[in-house]
Amino acid sequence: MLEIHGLNVYYGDVHVLWDVSLNVSAGEIVTIIGPNGAGKSTLLKAVVNLLKPATGEKEKGKISFMGQDLTPLSPEDTIRLGIAIVPEGARVFPDMTVLDNLKIGSYAGPARARRKQTLKEVFGLFPRLKERLNQKAKTLSGGERQMLAIGRALMSRPALLLLDEPSLGLQPLLVVKTFAAVSEINRRGVSVLMVEQSVQFSLEISNRAYVLENGRIAAEGKARDLLQNDHIKKFYLAL
Ligand SMILES: Nc1ncnc2c1ncn2[C@@H]1O[C@H](COP(=O)(O)OP(=O)(O)O)[C@@H](O)[C@H]1O
Ligand SMILES: [Mg+2]
Repeated sequence: MLEIHGLNVYYGDVHVLWDVSLNVSAGEIVTIIGPNGAGKSTLLKAVVNLLKPATGEKEKGKISFMGQDLTPLSPEDTIRLGIAIVPEGARVFPDMTVLDNLKIGSYAGPARARRKQTLKEVFGLFPRLKERLNQKAKTLSGGERQMLAIGRALMSRPALLLLDEPSLGLQPLLVVKTFAAVSEINRRGVSVLMVEQSVQFSLEISNRAYVLENGRIAAEGKARDLLQNDHIKKFYLAL
């Protein structure tokens, strides 16, 4: 479904991603783990072309989605194609209501005509959002804001959801709930590519994972194998 081959990304003269190749098949949850500064967010942004203005296009490599080359597309075009991203830190529009934030997610393409139906589905997943429809986003708790950010991404009816550290800053109970929601979203037919620091929890719900270190893929494999991997145990699971 998503294929990245030989991707290199530079910020100015700084080479941040080195020959990164990865793929996500339809139906999978794939997780990218790695330390701070490894290039995980950069990788997700590269997929939906959020990098270009910042980097002045020194990007090399191939990224395709369902056979289509993503390189020439704008971020909006990638949404229309069926990719949605939830950026790091659950950024939502603070002064807009929950409902208006959700509606913005269905602005592009055919998702608009199905807005009502999709809203129902999002409320089924996150009933809390329905209770807070007319509340301004800035008054939500951290967990609720993360739900809203994910809900907004789902409003575009993506085939592939990109999640950048969805559990960041959440208390342990909410971390568990967030991953349960990601699993449920996946069961409903959405493929997921997720960046996470909660390695144990994220690998438990993932099919496969990649370890990104210093901008390079250092390891990859089935999630349950990586949970047994000595390097991962030592550096990421603190066992
Ligand atoms: N807009 C930017 N301009 C310059 N350097 C950046 C920019 N964004 C990230 N970087 C640098 O690129 C590297 C990778 O960052 P990032 O992708 O955010 O890593 P991660 O998400 O794994 O923590 C870091 O060294 C970071 O400082
Ligand atoms: Mg990051």
